[in-house]
Formats: sequence, C-alpha cells, structure tokens
Amino acid sequence: MLSGRRVVLGVTGGIAAYKAVEVCRRLVDAGVHVVPVMTAGAEHFIGRTTLSALASEPVQTSLWTETSPIPHTLLGQQADLILIVPATARLIGAYAAGLSTDLLTNVLLATRAPVVICPAMHTEMWEHPAVQHNLATLRQRGVYVVEPDEGRLAGGDIGRGRLAAPERILAEVERVLGPRDLSGLHVVVSAGGTREPIDAVRVIANRSSGKQGYAIAAEALSRGATVSIVSTVDLPVPCGAVVVRVDTAAQMHTAIAALADDADIIVMAAAVADFRPVAAVDGKIKKEAGVPQIVLEPTPDILAALGANKPAGQTLVGFAAETSDLLANAQSKLHRKQLDLIVANDVSLPGVGFEHDTNAVTLVCADGHVSTVALTDKRAIARAVLDSVCRIRTGNDSAG
Ligand code: C5P
Repeated sequence: MLSGRRVVLGVTGGIAAYKAVEVCRRLVDAGVHVVPVMTAGAEHFIGRTTLSALASEPVQTSLWTETSPIPHTLLGQQADLILIVPATARLIGAYAAGLSTDLLTNVLLATRAPVVICPAMHTEMWEHPAVQHNLATLRQRGVYVVEPDEGRLAGGDIGRGRLAAPERILAEVERVLGPRDLSGLHVVVSAGGTREPIDAVRVIANRSSGKQGYAIAAEALSRGATVSIVSTVDLPVPCGAVVVRVDTAAQMHTAIAALADDADIIVMAAAVADFRPVAAVDGKIKKEAGVPQIVLEPTPDILAALGANKPAGQTLVGFAAETSDLLANAQSKLHRKQLDLIVANDVSLPGVGFEHDTNAVTLVCADGHVSTVALTDKRAIARAVLDSVCRIRTGNDSAG
C-alpha cells in the first residue's frame, strides 16, 4: 500500500533521532520514496551520512541551497505525507504558532499533504500545558499525532515521552495514506451551537464547541472529500475546507439548504437550538423594567427537513446529545428524521461531548447496525463516523 508513495521524513533534535533511522529503513523497505530533512538540532544526535545512506535521496538541512531556489515549497508540494520523527517541543511549538525558522518548519507550512508527528521528550516537557495546548491546536488543524509511549527515557527516568515504536509509526503512516474513500464526494458538516438573540446583547446559546464537527471535516478532507463547514464558531479551518459562518438556527438552515442538493454526505454535528424567542427585542432589555417574559417558538428542524427531501444517493448523519435512554432516544430520532446514521452520546458522562477534546459515542445505522466507540479523541470519533458512512454507502451501491 505504501509502495511508490513519497514521504518527507523530518528529523528534529531529540535523543530519539537515532530511532528515525530505523523508521526510514522500514519505509524504504516498504517501497516508499523517503526524502530526509534534518534540523540543526538533529545533527547533534545523528550524522547526515547515516540518513542519506538509508533514505532515497541525500539529506536536506537548509533553505539556502543553490540547486533549488525554493526547496520548501517543492518538498511540501510533491510529498504524499510529511512524517516528523521525533517531534521535539520546539518543533511542535513553532508549527502550532506558524513560525518558519528552518527548512523543516517551512516545509510544514508550505504543504497540503497530511502531516504525522511523533513527539518524544521528557515527561515534564510532554505534560507541560504549553506543549499540550500546541498539540491540541495541531490536532484541531488535522495533524495526526502518534502519542509517545511510557517507558525508559534518556537519563534513566521512567515516564511518558518515549518515542512510539516504529511499528506504531508505520501503521499510522499506512492508515493516513490509506484509501481515499471519500474522493470525489462533497461533505457538508455543521459545527458549533446556534445563538438565538433575545435582545441586542443577550442570546440563548448552548455548550457546543464545534470541535467534533471540525474533526469530522478534517477527517473527510484527509480521505479525499471536498468539504464545506457551516459553523457558528471560529476554530482553525482545516486546510482546504470552505467555511460558511452563521449564528442562528435560521441562518444555519439557509446555509445548509443552499449546499444540500450538491452534497453527497451531510453531517449535522451542530447543536441547533430547539426554541428561539419569537422576536428579538430592539436594544437592550432594561433590568429596571422587571423580569421579562420571553416567549419562545420552535426553530426549524433542519435535519428533519433534509431527511424529508433527501436526494437519492445522499447520506444523512445526525447527532443526538442525550442524558438518559441513549439508544432508545437515538433510534427514535433516526427514524423520525429519516437519517442513515445517528451518532449518540451521553453528555452527562465525564469527558464526553460538549467542550471536551474527547467523546464516546454509539453509532446507530438505519440498517440496524449498532456499534460503540469508547472515550477517545474527537478525530478518532470522526474516523469511526466516516467509516460507518462509507460502509452504509458501499452497501447502498452494491444493493443498487
Ligand atoms: O432532536 P434533537 O435536537 O436532539 O436532534 C439532534 C440532531 O438534529 C442534531 O444532528 C442537530 O444538528 C439536528 N437539529 C437540527 N435542527 C434543529 C434541532 C436539531 O438540524 N432545530
């Protein structure tokens, strides 16, 4: 599966750099064309000659070569994947901040290829809030992170921060370079929580962060789809997605309706308000006027409308945030809204749903297939959701 693919292998300056040599050798054995790039720090740990001898071409270290005036754009454009082994805290921080300080950071900013980073560092550095924050930013942008293992570190300490085993790194490269099973398809994802105005300053809102919707968008992009996000939040936009920014349920309805006819897959990950004030008051309601009576009316059920008018071949996915009777509520919603798949989560559980970086879900398909995904990061949930979508679509194709 890897044969003939082109991977830029970035090596940064950590003691685990020597293990990048083994990763390089295994990639080459698998038929990958490996383009090695080393940072100045990496050269303190391994020699260029070693990596040049094992990779598919000589190591590059500098932006300032005479043979190619723009090595960073060429390397980034031609790569099928960028793999960083090991990724130091410095590299992770520079990449998250968008700083181009050397050839490798330039390549990272100049590429549209998927990026896999394999952090390795001492436990204290790995657990530092700045490092974790930077990793969260990168994950949100669609970067794949191969988490370090726990084990013996340089200097004899034991803890998390040890570079993942080469097998795990190779498996991730294979997975990311795996089948582009959404290629040629248009995926529309809604994300965030709607905000319904009460007056000029107040809104009825909810706790949705939009992170799950953006993770689905990033995953769909990496699997070859064209992606539109209808969003109420300003998260980093996954590379290549088009974002339509909205606020209220009515605006979201209009934006999604405009995209729906052309969509192969619609994932309604947004938390849409069920009720809104009948009319927003002009200006600010004054406290002195006493407790206001806010009269509510139902919002349009976007998903139900999409389900009722679904074009042939479209796959419709809804979400169900529940606090009890998860499966029964999800199944009833699936049928009522004429969905192909519903992603149900119990948002009363720790680490699940709104605002978290993690989620745990039950996937209920219209064909009766039910599966669960235990607590994991939202990108992994996105992968499971789109795996189910592909399974449903393949079933439909073979049936038709
Ligand atoms: O019925 P409930 O609001 O729990 O359904 C949740 C699903 O329906 C979510 O996918 C949400 O995006 C969608 N929804 C909608 N329009 C609404 C309310 C919910 O599309 N007005």
